Amino acid sequence: MNPQNPSRIVRLLTRLRDSRFLWDTMGSIYNRHIYGAVSELYEHIAREMKLSGHSYVLDVGAGRGYISLLLASRNPRAMIAGIDYSPMQVREAEKHRRKRNIANCSFGRGNAMAIAFQSAMFDAAVSVGSIKHWPDGVQGLREIHRILKPGGYLMLSETDQGASDDALRSFIRRFRIWFIPDFLLFWGLRHVIFGQSYSEQTLIAALRAAGFREVESQRVPDCPYTLVRALK
Ligand SMILES: C[S@@+](CC[C@H](N)C(=O)[O-])C[C@H]1O[C@@H](n2cnc3c(N)ncnc32)[C@H](O)[C@@H]1O
Repeated sequence: MNPQNPSRIVRLLTRLRDSRFLWDTMGSIYNRHIYGAVSELYEHIAREMKLSGHSYVLDVGAGRGYISLLLASRNPRAMIAGIDYSPMQVREAEKHRRKRNIANCSFGRGNAMAIAFQSAMFDAAVSVGSIKHWPDGVQGLREIHRILKPGGYLMLSETDQGASDDALRSFIRRFRIWFIPDFLLFWGLRHVIFGQSYSEQTLIAALRAAGFREVESQRVPDCPYTLVRALK
């Protein structure tokens, strides 16, 4: 199937994938299954971000707050703000923050399309698995560029449209969902979740179009996600 010219069913499922309704009703299924499958990606990002002292960091599309809470717990002097457009995800993230008694992190509702923070407030930004859901990826990246201080950077990761079938099969083995047969899960990942996503090249082009410079991609072993670092 050509990802540029998707069938009607793929277009329909992609619209559902990108709706806030899905995250409000079924986000907990994603939250429960995916962390274990991509934990090394979060670890890699937390290691690479090397936050110095009192850094301010924004997590865009924070979901249940995995990377925000990891960064906050590893960098006690940094302040992490996570935003997500789904109230259910914000509640989940806040619940986990309280449970772990993490004080240097906060979660709130926010849309990547119009980020409600002043310009040049943050030293760094991070976003994992969210940009493919935004109605206009370049607009969201322009917003992230705006809220970063000059010299600030973004770590951005997304499901890789260019991932091989073998990579997707081994990914599925890490998070089987008992009520979805493997062939259906593979089809959904291949055509909807990864198929209607970004490749390394399209992600880099979107970052440059939004004004980022020194865009560099990184590889995380055994993880079918792209990971890119870019400077304001
Ligand atoms: C695949 S989840 C990833 C969540 C989290 N970053 C993680 O790694 O677990 C995508 C998240 O992006 C959020 N999202 C989608 N579109 C958004 C938008 N326009 N603005 C803010 N958040 C958005 C969804 O609510 C969802 O929580």
